[in-house]
Amino acid sequence: MKGAQKDSEKLIWEPMRSPSGGNPIVGSGQQSRALHKFLVWLILFVSATYIVYTLKLVSTSRTCDDEPFPNPRTRISSSSSSIKNVTATSLLSQSIQDHAVVETLLPESPETHRTEIRNIVFGIAASAKLWERRKNYIKLWFRPKEMRGVVWLDHTLKTREADEEDLPPVKISGDTSRFAYKNKQGHRSAIRISRIVSETLRLGLEDVHWFVMGDDDTVFVTENLVRVLRKYDHNQFYYIGSLSESHLQNIYFSYGMAYGGGGFAISYPLAKSLAKMQDRCIQRYPGLYGSDDRMQACMTELGVPLTKELGFHQYDVYGNLFGLLAAHPVTPLVSLHHLDVVEPIFPNVTRVQALQRLTLPMKLDSAGLMQQSICYDKSKRWTISISWGFAVQIFRGVFSPREVEMPSRTFLNWYRKADYTAYAFNTRPVSRNPCQKPFVFYLSKASLNSTMNQTVSEYVRNRVSHPVCKWKMADPANLERVEVYKKPDPHLWDRSPRRNCCRVMNPTKKGTTVIEVGVCGEGEISEM
Ligand SMILES: *[C@@H]1O[C@H](CO)[C@@H](O)[C@H](O)[C@H]1NC(C)=O
Ligand SMILES: *[C@@H]1O[C@H](CO)[C@@H](O)[C@H](O)[C@H]1NC(C)=O
Ligand SMILES: *[C@@H]1O[C@H](CO)[C@@H](O)[C@H](O)[C@H]1NC(C)=O
Ligand SMILES: *[C@@H]1O[C@H](CO)[C@@H](O)[C@H](O)[C@H]1NC(C)=O
Repeated sequence: MKGAQKDSEKLIWEPMRSPSGGNPIVGSGQQSRALHKFLVWLILFVSATYIVYTLKLVSTSRTCDDEPFPNPRTRISSSSSSIKNVTATSLLSQSIQDHAVVETLLPESPETHRTEIRNIVFGIAASAKLWERRKNYIKLWFRPKEMRGVVWLDHTLKTREADEEDLPPVKISGDTSRFAYKNKQGHRSAIRISRIVSETLRLGLEDVHWFVMGDDDTVFVTENLVRVLRKYDHNQFYYIGSLSESHLQNIYFSYGMAYGGGGFAISYPLAKSLAKMQDRCIQRYPGLYGSDDRMQACMTELGVPLTKELGFHQYDVYGNLFGLLAAHPVTPLVSLHHLDVVEPIFPNVTRVQALQRLTLPMKLDSAGLMQQSICYDKSKRWTISISWGFAVQIFRGVFSPREVEMPSRTFLNWYRKADYTAYAFNTRPVSRNPCQKPFVFYLSKASLNSTMNQTVSEYVRNRVSHPVCKWKMADPANLERVEVYKKPDPHLWDRSPRRNCCRVMNPTKKGTTVIEVGVCGEGEISEM
């Protein structure tokens, strides 16, 4: 190794030394003093001329063939430009063009252009047993013409032709019977699921920046997934995802693990390194429970920490997701999981119908989906919290933003005996005073007014009983609908994270509150 290195160093250094240092003229010590002096001056003169001309040559010949970093793309570009028709008058512009070609081609080469949805390959963990039901979640978000992905199943099943148009291709995971599995609670399918990234990589798809893992009951907001992944250099090693909502889950598994159901992303070069070692790695952890802890074990062997992105949602909870969705952190919503476990996110419809409704605002303004804004109706003394595209809450009285931005505990802990002290974030009770039980309005429709470049979303009151309230204050029960106007803001996440502001407008219809949501103006804050 060492010897070879020295040789290559020689190769690099020797040609560089020769032009300036390799002076072949050797003076003779026996010559007379005058001749000696003359020779010294001559040598100096010749060398100086030589250096000047060399420098000039080097600076003008840059455009030709010397490529300091041979890159297949730039080679293609220079050879294709040499085919071009070069006339004397166009020589100058040609050399300028060559510069431009080299410079503009670099960002577009497959290694460096920015991530688009086609640069992501999804690896979806599914089981044949639940496929008939779970495939409906995948149909909600997967667009076969634009996206690439593979559903990995445990064994073959009959696929319907109609499905083939709406779903990713289905493949059967490789045999894993040679691997040991010694966890008493878990299931050995964890091993095959853990290997999905490596197996997907081995399909040899081209121009992949990221592999994104998800379960068959994970729903992705793919535009936001792209927004999040674009922040990172896919040529580096990245392992991106999020934790469990349950503090106990994070203790039993790890606070450094991406929970698989919430989905996680592995950059292409990391997937390549993983594939080389994963089978050996998996053999070292037969006692682990699942696929995602096996993945994390291998990540720690590779020395790559989890990059946390709070928009991936494992949702290790029971009950109603409302509290979490109504107070989403100020980050793009990337995924939802455990949708079979929790109640439908809109009342009185099926789970799939509920998610279908969410795709309406998703299409209009995916960046703003579920983003919370907080404002006050000063005349009525109400607090208003909007989760754009999902729901509006109206409370009697004034709640500060620091309280309203905490999720209300409409959901239950994954460990049924644990309470709110066992979440990995702050929560608040649904209401402290009977008068302050929120009036909830759920999204009913959404559209774009293209002349105004503005979305119009309508939220209808959820008719549930409210405790008697003797406060002498306007009663939100008189409201039927809330109408929200908001400009689409595709560049929301190109700026620093900040909640939008909302403003209560003059109502035009009885029983309707009209609210505008948008970027906060100069000096505008959430205050009564
Ligand atoms: C060369 O340039 C002339 C004049 O611009 C053009 O007519 C001709 O088609 C060119 N030839 C090639 C091979 O591009
Ligand atoms: C629930 O849905 C059914 C059928 O769509 C409808 O008839 C019923 O009125 C709804 N109930 C409520 C409380 O919205
Ligand atoms: C769009 O908004 C303008 C101004 O409020 C209104 O006149 C127009 O009817 C709206 N268009 C649609 C399609 O709702
Ligand atoms: C609508 O407004 C948003 C935000 O101001 C802007 O980014 C977008 O380009 C606009 N679209 C059209 C069609 O004018």
